[in-house]
Amino acid sequence: QVAAASGHTVVLVDQSDEILKKSTKGIEESLKRVTKKKFADKPEAGAEFIKKTLKNLTTSTDAASVVHSTDLVIEAIVENLEVKNELFKTLDKFAPEHTIFASNTSSLQITKMANATTRQDRFGGLHFFNPVPMMKLVEVIKTPMTSQKTFESLVDFSKAVGKSPVSCKDTPGFIVNRLLVPYMMEAVRLFERGDASKEDIDVAMKLGAGYPMGPFELLDYVGLDTSKYIIDGWHSLEPNNPLFAPSPLLNKLVEEKKLGKKTGEGFYKYK
Ligand code: 3HC
Repeated sequence: QVAAASGHTVVLVDQSDEILKKSTKGIEESLKRVTKKKFADKPEAGAEFIKKTLKNLTTSTDAASVVHSTDLVIEAIVENLEVKNELFKTLDKFAPEHTIFASNTSSLQITKMANATTRQDRFGGLHFFNPVPMMKLVEVIKTPMTSQKTFESLVDFSKAVGKSPVSCKDTPGFIVNRLLVPYMMEAVRLFERGDASKEDIDVAMKLGAGYPMGPFELLDYVGLDTSKYIIDGWHSLEPNNPLFAPSPLLNKLVEEKKLGKKTGEGFYKYK
């Protein structure tokens, strides 16, 4: 959405036409929200902006067949290294020499994905934040193999889509998640110990620390499955780090498919 809205030609790829239809509908709805504010006094210009943005966007279920004409690939699939590497390996065969590959991973090592390809110097991380149309930040991740030219292209692209880039080495969680995820897990542990209710913890962090959402609202918003992937991955890397300890309550909710807002229930119910 943000790439298409800033004039880039985008091919959105997913596994089925059904998912792509749902994604396109989501983009249309989000564009309406953005446009309502941006073109408050000029509804015609707003309609034109939506039309132009959607014109920049096509969809496909076959990444290999569309990658031949791309300058940049941004991968945002399931947080599973093997699945990501399989995709990158395939794309590496069909993409032009100059094409840069980037992952939007929340917590996996970019270096490990780059090593699945033959373009380690043209590989980096581009980490966006939910909800992407609203959040101004992008973390640009440089591995020891990312060339300066690639890094600069990723920074330029971030600016071209209207974001403010920061750079970080290829370390677990980069900047934001390395701080945010342990904080959210500490909130779950506080609740698990029965020290405070989740409602009070959320109110406390909103009114006492100025956060726009409390930790439980944010966990539900990000998705409990995503949060579990992140913490489980870090726990396997550093089993003795108490900040990375898994939470029985989070595990139980994920097992029950209560994944947050997207499934209608997580820590809270959404109807
Ligand atoms: N598309 C377009 N516009 C959107 C939107 C979307 N998906 N979601 C919200 N908005 C807009 C609304 O239209 C609204 O615009 P308005 O001010 O013109 O009315 C504005 O955002 C505010 O929305 P709401 O009034 O509905 O609600 P809030 O004031 O609570 O704001 C929020 C919503 C921007 C999501 C705010 O609560 C927030 O900043 N929350 C924290 C988000 C956060 O921490 N994100 C990082 C998560 S971590 C992550 O993503 C990393 C990953 O790796 C796990």
